[in-house]
Amino acid sequence: MSNLFSNGPGAIELLAPGAALLRGFAAPHDAELAAVVRSVSTAAPFRQMITPGGFTMSVAMTNCGAFGWVSDERGYRYSPTDPDTGRPWPALPTVIADLASRAAAASGFDGFTPDACLVNRYAPGARLTLHQDKDECDMSHPIVSISLGVPAVFLFGGLKRNERTLRLSLAHGDVVVWGGPARLRYHGVATLKADRHPFAGAERINLTLRRAR
Ligand code: SIN
Ligand code: FE2
Repeated sequence: MSNLFSNGPGAIELLAPGAALLRGFAAPHDAELAAVVRSVSTAAPFRQMITPGGFTMSVAMTNCGAFGWVSDERGYRYSPTDPDTGRPWPALPTVIADLASRAAAASGFDGFTPDACLVNRYAPGARLTLHQDKDECDMSHPIVSISLGVPAVFLFGGLKRNERTLRLSLAHGDVVVWGGPARLRYHGVATLKADRHPFAGAERINLTLRRAR
Protein backbone atom coordinates (compact mmCIF):
# COMPACT_ATOMS: atom_id res chain seq x y z
CA MET A 1 0.00 0.00 0.00
CA SER A 2 2.88 2.35 0.62
CA ASN A 3 3.23 3.08 -3.11
CA LEU A 4 -0.44 4.13 -3.44
CA PHE A 5 -1.56 7.71 -2.87
CA SER A 6 -5.14 6.46 -2.50
CA ASN A 7 -7.27 3.41 -3.12
CA GLY A 8 -10.06 2.69 -5.57
CA PRO A 9 -10.74 4.47 -8.86
CA GLY A 10 -8.29 7.28 -9.39
CA ALA A 11 -5.60 5.53 -7.36
CA ILE A 12 -2.09 6.60 -8.29
CA GLU A 13 0.56 3.92 -8.17
CA LEU A 14 4.16 5.09 -7.88
CA LEU A 15 6.35 3.01 -10.18
CA ALA A 16 9.65 4.71 -9.38
CA PRO A 17 10.68 8.20 -8.29
CA GLY A 18 9.13 10.47 -10.96
CA ALA A 19 6.96 7.73 -12.49
CA ALA A 20 3.30 7.00 -11.82
CA LEU A 21 0.50 4.80 -13.13
CA LEU A 22 -3.01 6.27 -13.08
CA ARG A 23 -5.44 3.39 -13.53
CA GLY A 24 -8.48 4.23 -15.68
CA PHE A 25 -7.70 7.96 -15.69
CA ALA A 26 -8.66 8.43 -19.37
CA ALA A 27 -11.61 6.00 -19.43
CA PRO A 28 -14.34 8.61 -18.75
CA HIS A 29 -13.31 10.37 -21.98
CA ASP A 30 -13.05 7.33 -24.24
CA ALA A 31 -15.93 8.22 -26.60
CA GLU A 32 -14.39 11.63 -27.27
CA LEU A 33 -10.94 10.07 -27.63
CA ALA A 34 -12.27 7.57 -30.18
CA ALA A 35 -13.72 10.45 -32.21
CA VAL A 36 -10.52 12.51 -32.18
CA VAL A 37 -8.31 9.52 -33.04
CA ARG A 38 -10.62 8.88 -35.99
CA SER A 39 -10.44 12.47 -37.22
CA VAL A 40 -6.66 12.76 -36.71
CA SER A 41 -6.02 9.51 -38.58
CA THR A 42 -8.32 10.58 -41.41
CA ALA A 43 -6.28 13.78 -41.93
CA ALA A 44 -2.91 12.12 -41.25
CA PRO A 45 -3.25 8.38 -41.92
CA PHE A 46 -1.44 5.77 -39.83
CA ARG A 47 1.78 4.55 -41.46
CA GLN A 48 4.53 2.11 -40.54
CA MET A 49 7.71 4.19 -40.40
CA ILE A 50 11.19 2.99 -41.33
CA THR A 51 13.95 2.98 -38.71
CA PRO A 52 17.33 4.56 -39.49
CA GLY A 53 18.60 0.95 -39.69
CA GLY A 54 16.16 0.22 -42.52
CA PHE A 55 13.57 -1.85 -40.63
CA THR A 56 9.82 -1.27 -40.93
CA MET A 57 8.29 -0.65 -37.51
CA SER A 58 5.50 -3.06 -36.56
CA VAL A 59 3.59 -0.26 -34.81
CA ALA A 60 1.66 2.07 -37.16
CA MET A 61 1.97 5.74 -36.21
CA THR A 62 0.58 9.18 -36.85
CA ASN A 63 0.73 12.47 -34.92
CA CYS A 64 -1.22 15.52 -33.91
CA GLY A 65 0.00 18.76 -32.40
CA ALA A 66 2.51 21.39 -33.51
CA PHE A 67 5.22 18.75 -33.87
CA GLY A 68 5.12 15.09 -34.87
CA TRP A 69 7.70 12.41 -34.20
CA VAL A 70 8.99 10.83 -37.41
CA SER A 71 11.55 8.20 -38.33
CA ASP A 72 13.17 7.41 -41.66
CA GLU A 73 16.56 6.45 -43.07
CA ARG A 74 17.91 9.85 -41.96
CA GLY A 75 17.06 9.33 -38.30
CA TYR A 76 14.49 10.21 -35.65
CA ARG A 77 13.23 13.78 -35.29
CA TYR A 78 10.26 16.08 -34.73
CA SER A 79 8.67 17.66 -37.77
CA PRO A 80 6.00 20.40 -37.96
CA THR A 81 4.65 18.75 -41.11
CA ASP A 82 3.57 15.26 -42.07
CA PRO A 83 6.19 13.96 -44.54
CA ASP A 84 3.47 11.85 -46.26
CA THR A 85 1.19 14.81 -47.06
CA GLY A 86 3.46 17.85 -46.71
CA ARG A 87 0.80 19.46 -44.51
CA PRO A 88 0.99 20.46 -40.83
CA TRP A 89 -0.11 17.69 -38.46
CA PRO A 90 -3.73 17.95 -37.26
CA ALA A 91 -4.13 20.24 -34.24
CA LEU A 92 -3.79 18.69 -30.79
CA PRO A 93 -7.38 18.03 -29.62
CA THR A 94 -8.23 19.83 -26.36
CA VAL A 95 -9.51 16.61 -24.76
CA ILE A 96 -6.06 15.02 -25.16
CA ALA A 97 -4.07 18.08 -24.06
CA ASP A 98 -6.27 18.57 -20.97
CA LEU A 99 -6.09 14.91 -19.96
CA ALA A 100 -2.31 14.90 -20.31
CA SER A 101 -1.95 18.08 -18.33
CA ARG A 102 -4.20 16.77 -15.53
CA ALA A 103 -2.43 13.40 -15.42
CA ALA A 104 0.95 15.15 -15.23
CA ALA A 105 -0.25 17.45 -12.42
CA ALA A 106 -1.66 14.48 -10.48
CA SER A 107 1.79 12.87 -10.77
CA GLY A 108 3.64 15.93 -9.48
CA PHE A 109 4.38 17.75 -12.76
CA ASP A 110 2.46 21.03 -12.79
CA GLY A 111 2.10 23.15 -15.91
CA PHE A 112 2.67 20.44 -18.55
CA THR A 113 1.56 21.82 -21.92
CA PRO A 114 2.30 19.24 -24.63
CA ASP A 115 3.07 20.32 -28.19
CA ALA A 116 3.39 16.81 -29.67
CA CYS A 117 1.14 13.76 -29.57
CA LEU A 118 2.37 10.53 -31.12
CA VAL A 119 -0.51 8.17 -31.87
CA ASN A 120 0.61 4.52 -31.89
CA ARG A 121 -1.57 1.73 -33.29
CA TYR A 122 -0.69 -1.84 -32.33
CA ALA A 123 -2.24 -4.73 -34.26
CA PRO A 124 -1.81 -8.25 -32.81
CA GLY A 125 1.88 -9.15 -33.12
CA ALA A 126 3.13 -5.53 -33.04
CA ARG A 127 5.68 -4.50 -30.42
CA LEU A 128 7.97 -1.64 -29.51
CA THR A 129 11.49 -2.49 -28.44
CA LEU A 130 13.06 -0.87 -25.37
CA HIS A 131 14.06 2.72 -26.03
CA GLN A 132 14.47 6.10 -24.35
CA ASP A 133 12.46 9.17 -25.39
CA LYS A 134 15.33 11.58 -26.00
CA ASP A 135 14.52 13.54 -29.16
CA GLU A 136 12.90 16.33 -27.12
CA CYS A 137 14.72 19.62 -26.33
CA ASP A 138 13.95 20.03 -22.64
CA MET A 139 14.01 16.96 -20.41
CA SER A 140 12.35 18.83 -17.52
CA HIS A 141 8.96 18.07 -19.13
CA PRO A 142 7.45 14.64 -18.40
CA ILE A 143 6.09 12.06 -20.84
CA VAL A 144 2.39 11.18 -20.57
CA SER A 145 1.21 7.94 -22.15
CA ILE A 146 -2.49 7.05 -22.55
CA SER A 147 -3.49 3.44 -23.30
CA LEU A 148 -6.72 2.60 -25.12
CA GLY A 149 -8.25 -0.60 -26.45
CA VAL A 150 -6.86 -4.09 -25.86
CA PRO A 151 -4.42 -4.48 -22.95
CA ALA A 152 -0.68 -4.63 -23.50
CA VAL A 153 2.35 -5.43 -21.39
CA PHE A 154 4.33 -2.21 -20.89
CA LEU A 155 8.01 -2.73 -20.15
CA PHE A 156 9.38 -0.10 -17.81
CA GLY A 157 13.10 -0.30 -17.28
CA GLY A 158 15.87 1.75 -15.76
CA LEU A 159 18.26 4.38 -17.02
CA LYS A 160 20.45 1.73 -18.63
CA ARG A 161 19.17 -0.69 -21.25
CA ASN A 162 20.26 -3.82 -19.38
CA GLU A 163 18.54 -2.96 -16.09
CA ARG A 164 15.66 -5.07 -14.86
CA THR A 165 12.27 -4.06 -16.39
CA LEU A 166 8.88 -3.94 -14.69
CA ARG A 167 6.17 -5.67 -16.73
CA LEU A 168 2.91 -3.77 -16.29
CA SER A 169 -0.36 -4.76 -17.88
CA LEU A 170 -1.89 -1.54 -19.19
CA ALA A 171 -5.64 -1.63 -19.75
CA HIS A 172 -8.04 0.69 -21.53
CA GLY A 173 -7.89 4.16 -19.98
CA ASP A 174 -4.67 3.64 -18.01
CA VAL A 175 -2.20 6.53 -18.05
CA VAL A 176 1.53 6.35 -17.26
CA VAL A 177 3.55 9.48 -16.49
CA TRP A 178 7.34 9.57 -16.23
CA GLY A 179 9.50 12.63 -15.69
CA GLY A 180 12.15 14.16 -13.46
CA PRO A 181 14.50 11.39 -12.32
CA ALA A 182 12.52 8.85 -14.43
CA ARG A 183 12.44 10.92 -17.63
CA LEU A 184 15.09 8.89 -19.46
CA ARG A 185 14.03 5.44 -18.32
CA TYR A 186 13.97 2.77 -21.00
CA HIS A 187 10.50 1.55 -21.93
CA GLY A 188 8.77 -0.55 -24.57
CA VAL A 189 5.75 -2.70 -25.31
CA ALA A 190 5.74 -6.53 -25.48
CA THR A 191 4.26 -8.25 -28.54
CA LEU A 192 0.51 -7.54 -28.55
CA LYS A 193 -1.62 -10.64 -28.00
CA ALA A 194 -4.83 -11.39 -29.90
CA ASP A 195 -7.73 -9.93 -27.90
CA ARG A 196 -10.83 -7.77 -28.42
CA HIS A 197 -11.98 -4.51 -26.88
CA PRO A 198 -14.94 -2.32 -27.92
CA PHE A 199 -12.67 0.73 -28.33
CA ALA A 200 -10.78 -0.48 -31.41
CA GLY A 201 -11.52 -4.17 -31.99
CA ALA A 202 -8.28 -6.16 -31.99
CA GLU A 203 -6.06 -3.08 -31.74
CA ARG A 204 -4.38 -1.11 -29.02
CA ILE A 205 -4.08 2.66 -29.42
CA ASN A 206 -1.54 4.62 -27.41
CA LEU A 207 -1.27 8.39 -27.21
CA THR A 208 2.14 9.65 -26.11
CA LEU A 209 2.18 13.34 -25.15
CA ARG A 210 5.41 15.24 -25.08
CA ARG A 211 6.85 18.71 -25.04
CA ALA A 212 9.11 18.53 -28.10
CA ARG A 213 10.33 22.17 -28.24
C1 SIN B 1 6.06 4.94 -26.88
O1 SIN B 1 7.03 4.69 -26.16
O2 SIN B 1 6.05 5.82 -27.75
C2 SIN B 1 4.76 4.17 -26.74
C3 SIN B 1 4.57 3.42 -25.49
C4 SIN B 1 3.25 2.68 -25.51
O3 SIN B 1 2.71 2.37 -26.60
O4 SIN B 1 2.73 2.37 -24.43
FE1 FE2 C 1 8.71 6.02 -25.97
